[in-house]
Amino acid sequence: MKVGSFTIRNRIMSTPHHTAFTDPDGLPGPREIAYWVAKAKGGIGLIGSHVHGIHYSTGNSFAQPAALTKFRAATEAIHEHGAKFVCQLWHPGAQGGMLTGGSPWAPSPVSQPDTWAVPHEMTTAETREVIAGYGRGAAILREAGVDGAEIHGAHGYLITQFLSPFPTRGTMNTAATSSAGSTSPSRSSMPFAPRWARTGPWVCASPAMR
Ligand SMILES: Cc1cc2nc3c(=O)[nH]c(=O)nc-3n(C[C@H](O)[C@H](O)[C@H](O)COP(=O)(O)O)c2cc1C
Repeated sequence: MKVGSFTIRNRIMSTPHHTAFTDPDGLPGPREIAYWVAKAKGGIGLIGSHVHGIHYSTGNSFAQPAALTKFRAATEAIHEHGAKFVCQLWHPGAQGGMLTGGSPWAPSPVSQPDTWAVPHEMTTAETREVIAGYGRGAAILREAGVDGAEIHGAHGYLITQFLSPFPTRGTMNTAATSSAGSTSPSRSSMPFAPRWARTGPWVCASPAMR
């Protein structure tokens, strides 16, 4: 079965989920690789990794020194058993406070119902910086031989926040979104900018963005 630029041996996908098997640096280690390899041996066509942060405001997996080596090790082990591997690029936006304890970065200073943390409203420069983070993450994944980078555009995280009127009502920084890589002066510009940051059409979007 052909999906974008690569072919999968069947229609079965292991959807992205945290395993609690990652190395302490949040990257794939022996336990997590063994978990994915067991799935590949079982005949799954496509394995999706859980989220990986793309910017320091939320923890950046791709800034870790071992990122390239560890993603390469996971990919090679999975490929050896005939499955394909895609990894998720992620920024939680206003939900980030849950993980970092700091003031999360988001399109608007509108608090989340679960944390009540009031986010820091991203400036134009910060929005561009985050978009570049998606691009840097994708570049590392591609160099590691990973079959695709999935931009996580669902579950109420940063990209969804730019698309939804709920977390962006009121004072959204429209200057940030309109200068994020599109000529369209709307908040919906930003989510599509990461797709083209550095990597072009190799990066795929998550189902919420199709
Ligand atoms: C513990 C756990 C962690 C998850 N982590 C992610 C994730 O990192 N990225 C993602 O896109 N979805 C994540 N999901 C959602 C799953 O990929 C899946 O869409 C969801 O569990 C619904 O499928 P199911 O009914 O087969 O469980 C997670 C789900 C669970 C239960």
